[in-house]
Amino acid sequence: MTFQEKLEKNIWGLLVMVAIVVSVGGIVEIVPLFYLDNVIEKLNKDEDSIRPYSALELEGRDVYIREGCYLCHSQMIRPFRDEKERYGHYSLAAESKFDHPFQWGSKRTGPDLARVGGKYSNEWHVQHLKAPRSLVPESVMPNYPFLAEAMIDDSLTERKMRAMATVGVPYTEQDFSGAVAAVKGKTEMDALVAYLQVLGTMVKFQEGKDYRE
Ligand code: HEC
Repeated sequence: MTFQEKLEKNIWGLLVMVAIVVSVGGIVEIVPLFYLDNVIEKLNKDEDSIRPYSALELEGRDVYIREGCYLCHSQMIRPFRDEKERYGHYSLAAESKFDHPFQWGSKRTGPDLARVGGKYSNEWHVQHLKAPRSLVPESVMPNYPFLAEAMIDDSLTERKMRAMATVGVPYTEQDFSGAVAAVKGKTEMDALVAYLQVLGTMVKFQEGKDYRE
């Protein structure tokens, strides 16, 4: 019997050999990613402008997740011409470094929202969220009028920020102590709009220039 035949008839031996082969394949593919310069994105001075979400924006992000907005909207502009023409500069990994969990997604029933911040006025967003079809007649987006009535539970805001801090978001003691005041009397609609308005606005891209320059 050859080695090959013996191996094929020995379940444990075969299992060990398969594990070895698979891990060699995995190592060959994965390890270089930790060393290649072009997969580890370097931002220049712009990187400093990426900040954690404010207390209100973070609450808005929670509404976004709770309502399942990500089921129809991605937040990742791919580096292709058609995407850049439509949405703006492609998304950088660094832009979602404080997102836990990130909201990249790939399902686009609606448009990508990675750079929706500043595209519309706050009033537009409120009206659109309450009744999308009043602004975009052919829209299939659901109505969210109840967000304008629901108040933010400010007793949880500081804890949410502390939870973010445990996974590396650099909130300060000042952020924690100001959390309640920042969301007091605000509705979920206020929070969600604040969140939408900051999306994609932290890095200031220069017209026609790649961020690496
Ligand atoms: C059933 C799928 C669906 C869900 C769920 C959904 N949307 Fe939409 N959304 C759409 C579609 C389709 C459009 C495009 C038509 C329009 O503007 O209404 C859109 C458009 C938008 C726009 C305008 C984007 C642009 O660049 O013009 C924003 C902002 C938006 N949605 C936010 C949200 C938020 C926030 C939520 C969660 C509260 C949400 N959407 C949930 C389908 C959805």
